[in-house]
Amino acid sequence: MSVTEESKATEATPDDDILLNVEGVKVHFPIKRGVIFDKTIGYVYAVDGVDLQIRRGETYGLVGESGCGKSTLGRAILNLEPPTDGHVIFDGVDIASLKGEDLRRKRQDLQMVFQDPLSSLDPRQSVESILVEGMKAHGIAKDAKEARPRLRELLAAVGLPPQALSKYPHEFSGGQRQRIGIARALSVNPKLIVADEPVSALDVSVQAQVINLLGDLQEEFGLTYIIIAHDLAVVRHISDRIGVMYLGSLVEEAAAADLYTTPLHPYTKALLSAVPIPDPDIEDEREQILLTGDLPSPSNPPSGCRFHTRCPWRQETRCDDERPALRVVEIDGFPSGHRVACHFAEQIHRGEIEPHKVEPIAVDPSSFEVPEDHGTMMAEPPGVNTASGGDPARGL
Ligand SMILES: Nc1ncnc2c1ncn2[C@@H]1O[C@H](COP(=O)(O)OP(=O)(O)O)[C@@H](O)[C@H]1O
Ligand code: SF4
Ligand SMILES: [Mg+2]
Repeated sequence: MSVTEESKATEATPDDDILLNVEGVKVHFPIKRGVIFDKTIGYVYAVDGVDLQIRRGETYGLVGESGCGKSTLGRAILNLEPPTDGHVIFDGVDIASLKGEDLRRKRQDLQMVFQDPLSSLDPRQSVESILVEGMKAHGIAKDAKEARPRLRELLAAVGLPPQALSKYPHEFSGGQRQRIGIARALSVNPKLIVADEPVSALDVSVQAQVINLLGDLQEEFGLTYIIIAHDLAVVRHISDRIGVMYLGSLVEEAAAADLYTTPLHPYTKALLSAVPIPDPDIEDEREQILLTGDLPSPSNPPSGCRFHTRCPWRQETRCDDERPALRVVEIDGFPSGHRVACHFAEQIHRGEIEPHKVEPIAVDPSSFEVPEDHGTMMAEPPGVNTASGGDPARGL
């Protein structure tokens, strides 16, 4: 697809083309302290107001530094992490409103592929039993015998031989294990697959193979994808659109080609300036924007624009005290699908505001704000939970 075609594709879409509508989703984890009284002393604002729409058949790349809330958002979309606020409307149905059997049935349509195939596959189960489990649960097959023809098809689709069925996860390489993880997601005929860092744990040499496989399967099975990555290069070629997350919310969203050629948000500019370009002439000429300071704690996010503590374009007015909404930019020739959360995106783009040096600002982790209207979700303090793979120290 050409840039113009892709740009057009992000504009005015009829509603029935939307498979997933995420509206104002927040996931706040309470931080509890105390031995006798389980007192809430603050919240991790892991996802803090995300709106996005995914069209049928598209691939949406979700990128951002480790710890910015990508996995939590992915889990909230599948209702594995019930949102604190907001709605996830899938195929016209609000997932949060479903309970019991209805929720279980809907889950068939939404599947997840995890970062680490080894820990997400039960080592005691053969590949056959791993793949049959979901099919039985969703009434696709009564037992392994009935499932067998479909299992062979699935294995062929992900590029594994039929003999793989009787083997166990440890007998495969990392790339092959991820193929099993993908086959497991496919086994129940989902409509949407959320792939959370599907190649981050793999050798660079096999990353492209698995990404290409996802692309092929999309065509074959008419799938819609959300592909999560901390590395922009991973999602670049496979994504139709890309959303960039920073500290719990989207800061920019655009057709993939538009985002790479004309990033507007200072954070996206910084991320892209760190991705090497193979052409030495372009590499020498382009602007390098170094991000100063660490990602602030999501339990004590900066006021106003959450990026203001690291932004080279930060202004005296608005940046520190007014949170910018994700909005369509007012620049001639820009598609309406290009949205950015920066008060000064237009001025920065036109070069009317110069970047300046950023002094790192220390964030006081003890100053938690506890809003009144939070429920009693159980969670651990930031840093304690590693299940979602967040590792803020790793950076990009
Ligand atoms: N169950 C949980 N309880 C408390 N904090 C959590 C929990 N899960 C994730 N977090 C925190 O939420 C933030 C976002 O995490 P995550 O969604 O894993 O980010 P990412 O996937 O972008 O690396 C991190 O600070 C992480 O420590
Ligand atoms: S709103 Fe201000 S601090 Fe935030 S990205 Fe834009 S210029 Fe930077
Ligand atoms: Mg993650």
